[in-house]
Amino acid sequence: MSLGPVPVLRPRAATGHDFAAVVALEQACFDEPWGPDSVAAELGAPDRIVRVAAGAGGVLGWSSTSVVAETADLLRVAVEPSARGRGLGHALVDDVLRSAGAAGATRVLLEVAEPNTAARALYAATGFREIHRRRRYYAGGADALVLERLLP
Ligand SMILES: CC(C)(COP(=O)(O)OP(=O)(O)OC[C@H]1O[C@@H](n2cnc3c(N)ncnc32)[C@H](O)[C@@H]1OP(=O)(O)O)[C@@H](O)C(=O)NCCC(=O)NCCS
Repeated sequence: MSLGPVPVLRPRAATGHDFAAVVALEQACFDEPWGPDSVAAELGAPDRIVRVAAGAGGVLGWSSTSVVAETADLLRVAVEPSARGRGLGHALVDDVLRSAGAAGATRVLLEVAEPNTAARALYAATGFREIHRRRRYYAGGADALVLERLLP
């Protein structure tokens, strides 16, 4: 029996109650996760848009974006490994585009490691294009790609 498509969670603003869940998400998603101090700084920074996708199972994804004047920087987006491949990352990035536009940004920038094929596919699917390459930017020697998405 098929259970049908999994409904995509609608991201919402993060609150202090999400702190521990976001720290756990970082540990599950990154080789070099942001620790509690960094997550707390994101949640407390006035120029940040911090969003979570949460359902009955808890927080499954999060994003953090800085907005300064007309430029937004997507600093972090991550989805719990067991919840990937269902459109949640796409929903989080779409939500960033909406939120950044509402905050006055006209473009969103981000950096992604060239070998990160999942993230690059997500950004291509949400309209980002490469504008610059930082050679051997990461500790392991990978290039960073700087991507831009113009907002309407
Ligand atoms: C990148 C990440 C957020 C994607 O989350 P996700 O919920 O699996 O993404 P989605 O299911 O919404 O997929 C988005 C698009 O990317 C594509 N995609 C996702 N994972 C992919 C993979 N492993 N290989 C190829 N394409 C992939 C999907 O096909 C989809 O394309 P479509 O919209 O045209 O169908 C997730 O893999 C992750 O958390 N990675 C670790 C953290 C990270 O690297 N973050 C980005 C750098 S800060």
